[in-house]
Amino acid sequence: MKGKKEFAAFLNKKIGNELTLEQIEGLIEKPKQLKQGDLAFPCFQLAKIYKKAPHEIAKELSSGTLPDQFERMEPAGGYVNIFFNKNSAASELLLKILNEKENYANHPFGNEKTIVFDLSSPNIAKPFSMGHLRSTVIGSSLAAISEKCGYNTVKINYIGDWGTQFGKLICAYLKWGEEEKVRANPIEELTKLYVRFHEEADKDTSLNGEGRLWFKKLEDHDPQATELWIWFKDASLKAFQKIYDLLDVHFDSYNGEAFFNDKMDATVQELQEKNLLETSEGAQIVKVGEDLPPCLIKKTDGATLYATRDLTAAIYRMNTYSFDQAFYVVGHEQSLHFEQVKRVLYKMGYEWSDHMHHVPFGLILQNGKKMSTRKGRTVLLETVLLEAIQLAEQNIKEKNPELSGVEEVARQVGVGAVIFHDLKNEKGNDVEFSLEQMLKFEGDTGPYVQYTAARIETLLKKGNFEWNLPAKFSIGDESWELLSVLNDFPGVVEQAFKRKEPSVISKYVLKLSHKFNHYYASVKILNSAETNQRLALCASIQTVLKEGLRLLGIQTPKRM
Ligand code: ARG
Repeated sequence: MKGKKEFAAFLNKKIGNELTLEQIEGLIEKPKQLKQGDLAFPCFQLAKIYKKAPHEIAKELSSGTLPDQFERMEPAGGYVNIFFNKNSAASELLLKILNEKENYANHPFGNEKTIVFDLSSPNIAKPFSMGHLRSTVIGSSLAAISEKCGYNTVKINYIGDWGTQFGKLICAYLKWGEEEKVRANPIEELTKLYVRFHEEADKDTSLNGEGRLWFKKLEDHDPQATELWIWFKDASLKAFQKIYDLLDVHFDSYNGEAFFNDKMDATVQELQEKNLLETSEGAQIVKVGEDLPPCLIKKTDGATLYATRDLTAAIYRMNTYSFDQAFYVVGHEQSLHFEQVKRVLYKMGYEWSDHMHHVPFGLILQNGKKMSTRKGRTVLLETVLLEAIQLAEQNIKEKNPELSGVEEVARQVGVGAVIFHDLKNEKGNDVEFSLEQMLKFEGDTGPYVQYTAARIETLLKKGNFEWNLPAKFSIGDESWELLSVLNDFPGVVEQAFKRKEPSVISKYVLKLSHKFNHYYASVKILNSAETNQRLALCASIQTVLKEGLRLLGIQTPKRM
């Protein structure tokens, strides 16, 4: 049921040279209400060119023989409204969806070029925070959307396993740590030690120096420091893996900050050779313009910094993956950092730094404040997920006591609720943390969409639907609206990619679910003369709902 192009071509013949085909296509819009037409062409621009009233022009344009797929055309004010030939347009679209299934709305424009995603990237020895959840789900969704648009993706979990904080942690562990306790509950205990370090350092500032010293030792491969660090890292990764398993997310690389430890010298040397490095108050810096503070490359004590590692990682990624674009899915509080890194790379002569994009997102707030591990203000993601799953299980058992495989369904639904809650709003907004909101299964939630897809599954089973289109096809107004929404899906996917905005997809699947449930309540689907063609419509809706959810990183249970 494409049609924009055909409508534009038809108008182009009548309009002549005043507007190009592309301009006409760009002007064509979809009327708010379907009864006004399926597409509309506004005549206001032409009115200016011809110095005539728009409604006169609309009248003149609305004559002639239409291409087959259109039924009629009429002027309305300054618009030409056009109506599809519903039966043929509907069967064409449904046939396409039933044939292409989950490949419907795939785009070729990525041309198999590579996008490297920097996502999730939690810090070891600290809890996996809600902020890292945001990066994980936004990043995974954008990667799935990019693949649907024809790109190859590389998903890199850039683990935060390097930096002065590990010096502090090692120092704290050696002073107050107990091996047994850390073994039993690594992240919790290490976090406590880290918090304690800061409390004690507030009283006795010499501790900070000791912490720095331990980091220096770690950078210099001191065996004791290294052994502790490896232990903390392994234990942390194991804990993170539990969360990734629940979320069902996967990465292509876990090369984190430490991976670049032995590669940073080369970067620093290159900066030196290119005469970009300057000494300022004993530290090594690169100036990046009047409007931004300089980028810190080495501290006074010679220790490297976050930016040094990101510079090195970017160069490494370019050499390894020859990426077309690199997306850094990281909270907006790190915007300055990424801007500095990009500018340094640009000064080094790497024009591809223009292809690096910070994809920022809003904070999760608690009582209006940023969550902070240091101040002990964080909520553990694992707790949230497990609670969501438990609640889902209760719900399912109440509604559907006979359902088999409840555990897996509960995981899909509980996790679906949490992911959808995150992805349903524009990613740039700050969100106030609310477990209650996250665990809601009714209203505009992930489980509501999953439930809609499962309800269709039951219909298809009961009606023995065979996944093909009935020979005779005649569509009523109530289905026309749904078809028009199905027809939007390719454009929605493209929008989501271009805006780097998964919420475009979540809003769309909600809309489709609402429309379907309305249809379901008002139309008899089973045991009607039209059952077959109505089921074909339902099957197409289900295909698109499932695919939409998949692009968000949410699975669809067959029953729930
Ligand atoms: N580990 C960092 C943090 O939790 C995020 C890393 C983001 N990625 C990057 N390439 N700097 O704040």
